[in-house]
Amino acid sequence: MENVSMEQLISLCKRRGFIFQGSEIYGGLAGTWDYGPLGSELKRNIQNAWWKMFVTDREDMYGVDAAILMNQNVWKASGHVAGFTDPLVEDLVTKKRYRADHVLEEKNIDPKGMDLEAMSKAIVDNNIKSPDGNAFGEVRTFNMMFQTNIGAIQDETSVSYLRPETAQGMFVNFKNVVDSMHPKLPFGLGQIGKAFRNEIAPRDFVFRSREFEQMEIEYFVKEEDWKGRFSDWIGAMYGWMDFVGIPRSKVHELEVAPEDLAHYSKRTMDFEFDFPFGKKELYGLAYRTNFDLNNHAEASKAGLYVVDDENGGTKVVPHCIEPTFGLDRTILAVLASAYHEEGEGDDKRVVLKLKPTIAPYKVCVSPLLKNKPDLVDKARVVYSGLKKVFGNVTWDDNGNIGKRYRRQDEIGTPYCITVDFDTLENDTVTVRDRDTATQDRVAIADLQPFLAEKFS
Ligand code: GLY
Repeated sequence: MENVSMEQLISLCKRRGFIFQGSEIYGGLAGTWDYGPLGSELKRNIQNAWWKMFVTDREDMYGVDAAILMNQNVWKASGHVAGFTDPLVEDLVTKKRYRADHVLEEKNIDPKGMDLEAMSKAIVDNNIKSPDGNAFGEVRTFNMMFQTNIGAIQDETSVSYLRPETAQGMFVNFKNVVDSMHPKLPFGLGQIGKAFRNEIAPRDFVFRSREFEQMEIEYFVKEEDWKGRFSDWIGAMYGWMDFVGIPRSKVHELEVAPEDLAHYSKRTMDFEFDFPFGKKELYGLAYRTNFDLNNHAEASKAGLYVVDDENGGTKVVPHCIEPTFGLDRTILAVLASAYHEEGEGDDKRVVLKLKPTIAPYKVCVSPLLKNKPDLVDKARVVYSGLKKVFGNVTWDDNGNIGKRYRRQDEIGTPYCITVDFDTLENDTVTVRDRDTATQDRVAIADLQPFLAEKFS
């Protein structure tokens, strides 16, 4: 990985159809991003790889896909109505709002462990002013959930929230899964889906946005087993990072201090990544104890337990380990890790060294010249054959061959196939490798196994 800047990444993402500002033609909507043709392919490939690794390849995991809107009592029982807050501070003149912890961090004051009063005092003691040069008010809390109303009546009985985490959709379906699938401990639920947080200050591209996507696991264990299972998940999370192309050398473990733990957690380990804007949280691994199941059991009166047949049929409320993966942060870390600039002058190229499994296009097929019908017809046959097998194969006949290679390098296409005059003689094509820029001559009849081996 090189020291790519955010400007380079954002520019590449927009120019090549990965990620656009949300509602851009209307001036944008802060904290929202839209994935374009290549970004949505990359995202889907990452989701599919995650689902395969953590759900379908395992015997102890079950997938769910819960509704985003949930009964408001879910969020009361989970503690989010009372406690899912960020510290907010207001410019007393402009009324603009800022995250108090970010205001302190920008002045190199560590806000970890500070309560609201301590943050207010630090702002006054250090004479910190707003970006507009005005005084700040007291630090207050701000609930980050987006509130809405369900149906025609807008009163407090109709209140609902856009979910701020996918996790609760799994806890409230715990009984349904136990009753329908009869799993034995340990077992887990996995879910991929949108979550929403009304961030006071969305920033750093898709790193901190108001609408984002999570890939989460709630893994249920016997209480006495939690430490061992927590360690197993650390290993599994590194396995994922290796698979998707996030180098371990850029990942740092952070044991979250007790005073900074989320309201449901007894131990949390963050995996921080060296993003272009600094070392920030990429993934989290939390020991949520039986906090959620107990709270939901008490509030809903549902029996949220498993029956332990090995111990005389006793009822056990399992404890929960939660590995959580931000999908948009994964995409940002993958792109930052894959971005390379190579060569000098006219030979300079930008190359996204994405793992072939997640690259938006697996292969590009081109006729050497687009005004030679024999070459085009032959290339079309190769293109259609590969598309049936490998799915996302692209066609490019614009400009000269060197420019086509540059364009495909920049979007991470691992292999470019060219049909040239030799093809018409002997049914072979050139296969160019993105990372080495070297070429093999391969018989059309052998292309499929040749590429399949590269992708395995
Ligand atoms: N479920 C944990 C989180 O959203 O951070």
